[in-house]
Amino acid sequence: MAPGARCRICGETVVEFLDFGTQPLSDAFRDPADTTDEFTYRLAVGVCGECGMVQLTEEVPREEMFHEDYPYLSRGSAVMRRHFQELAERFLATELSGTDPFIVELGCNDGTMLKTVAEAGVRHLGVEPSGAVADLAAEEGVRVRKDFFEETTALDIVDTEGRADVIYAANTLCHIPYMASILRGVTALLKPNGVFVFEDPYLGDILEKTSFDQIYDEHFFFFSATSVDEMARRHGLELVDVERLPVHGGEVRYTLARPGARTRSAAVDELCEEERRRRISDLAVLEDFARKVRVIRDELVELLTRLRAEGHRIVGYGATAKSATVTNFCGIGPELVEFVCDTTPAKQHKLTPGSHIPVRPPEAFSQDYPSYALLFAWNHSEEIMAKEQDFRKAGGRWIRYVPHVHVV
Ligand code: SAM
Ligand code: TMP
Repeated sequence: MAPGARCRICGETVVEFLDFGTQPLSDAFRDPADTTDEFTYRLAVGVCGECGMVQLTEEVPREEMFHEDYPYLSRGSAVMRRHFQELAERFLATELSGTDPFIVELGCNDGTMLKTVAEAGVRHLGVEPSGAVADLAAEEGVRVRKDFFEETTALDIVDTEGRADVIYAANTLCHIPYMASILRGVTALLKPNGVFVFEDPYLGDILEKTSFDQIYDEHFFFFSATSVDEMARRHGLELVDVERLPVHGGEVRYTLARPGARTRSAAVDELCEEERRRRISDLAVLEDFARKVRVIRDELVELLTRLRAEGHRIVGYGATAKSATVTNFCGIGPELVEFVCDTTPAKQHKLTPGSHIPVRPPEAFSQDYPSYALLFAWNHSEEIMAKEQDFRKAGGRWIRYVPHVHVV
């Protein structure tokens, strides 16, 4: 364990339970001509013995991950586009239905959620440090500030725009280690009756599905209702609602408010009780998860090696950030996986981080089907299965490793 790993919520000791070793940045897709050394760090995860927050033990400087060329696009999935549109419509009908409402989104990315708010003519601001994706949001008519959200940013927004009815973050809060500054900023920026709503991969789902690929540089925290409840309380806020979401392999949408401002829903205590029953912050349970992860690694490598020895072609589907953990932890390179297909323009014709597997557009997949496709984007499974039926009809098989290694 990294000596002195301290909890980023309460400052107590973090006990490590899983070490993935040296890893590259999960979204650092590499130009094939680039021969410079890749940035690496040690990827390990632990749990705080005091507040129960599961978190990485080493932090990557934020500018290494979120910069002009950050490639991830929210719009890459039809299911996620619908998910964000429905949420925006819900906000418009509820929290944003009063006089001159104002919503701030942290990590608005390409504007997929705020676009609907902008089209409704409602006051909004996206805070997004990654330049190219922020430009795409602006092209959608979204007002965006190219910046990291933290306390100083929040205070500046209060001065220039006033306070917010809703602060929202999807798949962003878990990316931010400097949580004390974030929550001070949120507290300053929220109206007295405002809500802070965020959704992120749920620890309960990660343990249940052994989805170890949710662990990578950008995912610093692995939230549960219990740990978020504790985090909110320590920072002068209250967890007032939780909602389980099917997206991205299982998430929870948390709603925080000022203490007493909102009625706490029964769902919060129910989920906390379920987590207590499952003992999801117990070291023994987390060590058992780590053991299952090593089994998946061994079985996946064995399967891929055997299929290649039998002469089969294997192609990866979806150059996800998650897949960086899979390929680099398992030692999967181009000798096992010929290429990975992906719809994201900024990832295509590059090499995957660390494992250096070529990334090609989806047409490369459909023009010459392999015998096997390794489903890295398993969290978008339904959408992908629906559009790739011809692959199955042509005799192709999917290799999956969540919740265990199997071929379908
Ligand atoms: N919200 C989008 C979604 O769910 O599809 C994008 C999620 S993306 C995985 C995480 C985003 O958070 C990136 O666009 C990144 O630039 C942004 N981000 C990282 N740190 C941030 C910070 N301190 N404040 C605001 N955005 C941040
Ligand atoms: P995510 O799991 O972080 O959302 O990343 C999904 C990646 O998979 C992203 O690079 C886009 C890619 N993708 C495809 O290539 N085809 C698809 O049909 C979908 C839904 C995603």
